[in-house]
Amino acid sequence: MNEELLVLGGSNGEHLAIELSSIGAFELGSLEVRKFPDGETYVRVLTKVDGRTVVYINSLQRNVNEAIFETILTIDALRDLGAKEVIAVIPYMSYARQDARFNPGEAISIYTLAKMFKAVKIDHLITIDMHLHRISNPSDLFGANFHNITGVRELAKYFERTHDIENTVVIGPDEEAEQWAKVMSEELNGLEYAVLKKTRITAEKVVIETGGVNVAGKNVIIVDDIISTGGTIIEAVKALKELGAREIMVGAVHPLLIGNAYNRLLRLRLKDLVGTNTILSPISKVSVAPAIYSELITILSI
Ligand code: R5P
Repeated sequence: MNEELLVLGGSNGEHLAIELSSIGAFELGSLEVRKFPDGETYVRVLTKVDGRTVVYINSLQRNVNEAIFETILTIDALRDLGAKEVIAVIPYMSYARQDARFNPGEAISIYTLAKMFKAVKIDHLITIDMHLHRISNPSDLFGANFHNITGVRELAKYFERTHDIENTVVIGPDEEAEQWAKVMSEELNGLEYAVLKKTRITAEKVVIETGGVNVAGKNVIIVDDIISTGGTIIEAVKALKELGAREIMVGAVHPLLIGNAYNRLLRLRLKDLVGTNTILSPISKVSVAPAIYSELITILSI
């Protein structure tokens, strides 16, 4: 066991902290997180952190704003209690899509969130498939060595293990998803990949154009970073079926599955629907713990 290193999980990260501590034989510490009667958040660090490297894991989701405040309180306490080094693992970074002022007067939420992280001082920030489209220097923004790793390789390993992927095309449902389609294709021995074109009408409604993709008579793996309302996947599946796709599988890193998204997706009768455990959901069949571990040992040179 690495005596100096301690792994701690917040309310949305304990499952990953437990798995990471097993993979790396790291000590698993404990936190107490509860509410005061008036709704304020109470955090207490129950394991000695003084002089130690602490890996703190929490996803900023479900009760998003609660999760953010719990995370900031915990990291600040870790610092205050004398942790030598704090490595924050934020598997799902919320607010990343509000990375610009799309309409006059809007708050640029990810900038504000990053300022909070900067204020509590972390040494390294590991996150997974975060939207970084308009953020050119995330290390500066968050005031920490920034590591944006991918969960798509773990999804690809799952598909390879559990399905026959002959005669299969990898599809990204929009242009931004090309990066994930490419990684999935690389991991699956260079399967052909293509992307569709998406226009977002409202938060829940999108229009998908397929352009020239050829999926007739082929199986498809659709890969995306997030399933939120499910609108993107639903429209992509409809369009691909119209083009004659055979069986369709879907893999997404962050299964937010807002509202009735899960049931709407079940109605599509997909061959498989899988997400990772950056967020616990009914489709979180793939763990990102091995990807986090591998980044961690690179950072720590162990
Ligand atoms: C957006 O650009 C992302 O890559 C996802 O495609 C999007 O967040 C999915 O959202 P929804 O499930 O609501 O269509």
